[in-house]
Amino acid sequence: MLKLGIIGTSPISHEFIKAVSLSHSYTLSAVYSRKLETAKTFAQSYENITLFTDVNKFFSSDLDVIYIASPNSLHFEQAKAALQAKKHVIVEKPMVSTLEELAILTKTAQEHNVFLLEAARNYHEKAFATIREFLDSQTILGGQFTYAKYSSKMKDLLAGKIPNIFSADFSGGALMDLGVYTLYAAVGLLGKPNASTYTAQQLPNSVDLNGTGVLTYPDFKVTIRPGKNISAFGGNEIYTADGTLVLDSCEWISSAIFHKHDGSTTELSIQAASHQMQEETLAFAQVIENQDWNLAQKWLSDAQVVHETLYSMRQDAGIIFKADTHVQ
Ligand SMILES: NC(=O)c1ccc[n+]([C@@H]2O[C@H](COP(=O)([O-])OP(=O)(O)OC[C@H]3O[C@@H](n4cnc5c(N)ncnc54)[C@H](OP(=O)(O)O)[C@@H]3O)[C@@H](O)[C@H]2O)c1
Repeated sequence: MLKLGIIGTSPISHEFIKAVSLSHSYTLSAVYSRKLETAKTFAQSYENITLFTDVNKFFSSDLDVIYIASPNSLHFEQAKAALQAKKHVIVEKPMVSTLEELAILTKTAQEHNVFLLEAARNYHEKAFATIREFLDSQTILGGQFTYAKYSSKMKDLLAGKIPNIFSADFSGGALMDLGVYTLYAAVGLLGKPNASTYTAQQLPNSVDLNGTGVLTYPDFKVTIRPGKNISAFGGNEIYTADGTLVLDSCEWISSAIFHKHDGSTTELSIQAASHQMQEETLAFAQVIENQDWNLAQKWLSDAQVVHETLYSMRQDAGIIFKADTHVQ
């Protein structure tokens, strides 16, 4: 069993713990919070957890793997310190704010012989493999991936506050938050694009509320549509020479139906996991337990493509983060 430590005490950490308990591969051992009261409240739901408010003591404790679910801009320093302490690291998406951060984390993980894993949950769904296999025999003509959900933080934003998720200091915005899933869908299902563009509705701090991106592949184009001040109820399709594959979503996919040009349909065999983070937590545990460096390297190569695309899209739209001005 992998001894697990958690950074971040918001609802997503509780969800992660629910998912790891389904994989039967981890033991929840410790939580770090800036405040003891917060750590205590968080730990109420669990047994035998050590509470830390000193992050260095947390990193040097007897843990195998650390899950980081803090605001985006904090991922880099926390992940770097955890890797240097020889812990395997699962970092919430987006793993980093800049490509320089990704290069440093990748090198640090290699130097310390530990795994660096990005919690891009849709990329690890079995549905991706099923869809990829189906697409192998198809000629792709284009596609679109959409993930737009009206944020619970919109109320604060409209009241004049800047919640972390809309903050340039914390590397927020629709593209970083939900767009990353659309990019993992594009890269995971269709491969690496040659170029990208992004236009967005933006706040005065440059952070995007929603936007439209175009990925250019050698023979087709793919549109992505992330949003946090709008909700979308469709918009996940892959066009081929024979018809259209309609997905119910680009994450936690439970349905994929191919509509042929002759009007007939074929449903792909897809069974969504009972928890949306279940498949990634199992995949991470297997890679760590089997010491599968090749598979982890393949994931990191795809993460590199996703983050290169995120970065070039941000540049195109003029989305500038505090992290962009940091010299590492
Ligand atoms: N996979 C998914 O489905 C999913 C869903 C939601 C979010 N996420 C990801 O999870 C991460 C956290 O998102 P969130 O919405 O939960 O963020 P958040 O609520 O803003 O912060 C998460 C935790 O980070 C700590 N924190 C907050 N502000 C901080 C600050 N200024 N300085 C230091 N620590 C701070 C807090 O823990 P303490 O008070 O205990 O220190 C807080 O509970 C993001 O990377 C996001 O993309 C993933």
